[in-house]
Amino acid sequence: MLRPGSGRDRPIGVFDSGVGGLSVWRELARLLPGEGMIYLADQARAPYGERTREEVTQFTHESVAWLLAQGVKLVVVACNTASAAALTSLRRRWPDTPIVGMEPAVKPASQRTRTGHVGVLATPGTLQADRFISLVARFANGVHVHTVMGVGLVRMVEEGVLDGPDAEARLRAILAPLQEAPIDQLVLGCTHFPFLEAALRQVLGDGVELVNPAPAVARHTRRTLEQAGLLRTAPHPGPWHFFTTGDLARFKHFVHPIVDSAWMASERWITFRKITI
Ligand code: DGL
Repeated sequence: MLRPGSGRDRPIGVFDSGVGGLSVWRELARLLPGEGMIYLADQARAPYGERTREEVTQFTHESVAWLLAQGVKLVVVACNTASAAALTSLRRRWPDTPIVGMEPAVKPASQRTRTGHVGVLATPGTLQADRFISLVARFANGVHVHTVMGVGLVRMVEEGVLDGPDAEARLRAILAPLQEAPIDQLVLGCTHFPFLEAALRQVLGDGVELVNPAPAVARHTRRTLEQAGLLRTAPHPGPWHFFTTGDLARFKHFVHPIVDSAWMASERWITFRKITI
């Protein structure tokens, strides 16, 4: 176990089934550069999106419990699938810990669309959840919401296939049902998908805006820390720790370029470790 540190100088915990949550992590690093962070990727059990709700709920509770045992002050569930299944029960179980979750950005996309048609690309687990159905009912406001299940895409990102002909061919096949719909917004409803941005642009062209909620989630996290009096005050930046339940070498290979491009990366303590939960 890591040394917890006291109060507001404790790290933020960030959780995803795999590397997708790093699309949120990098926005947190940009907005809250002084904060220490513990990132947990449950890669041994990923992808979550094609598992049952019960399994996802159990794995998410185990992962969040592990992060809390490391002494984190706030948890970001940087996974739409885990949030859809478990956010309510997580908040019930740990009412004193701020827990920030993800949901597909249907509301901003519905406000921005000019054609009145938005696409949502997410995992089956997210799209089938009551939470998503209620989100659309509350915020689509007469806009047509076209959902597409990104089956196989999380695995593709986990394997490091982010662009090039293979990635584009896979995306073209998955997005084919959207061809007839005049969408001008595509909601990236899974935190793995911002890493496919270049390939998605190739496939969709310039007329479709990609909606990534990660910057808004980072801003929400900062507000939550402010309101709870939990922003870090220590003069030096906190450490960044990265943990995976899966293959450490593969995880490091994916994480390194993202961490290296983060501001102040060279000024802090950074570690990588494999764990079992
Ligand atoms: N990053 C997760 C999400 O946002 C991927 C879920 C999965 O493992 O399938 O939904």
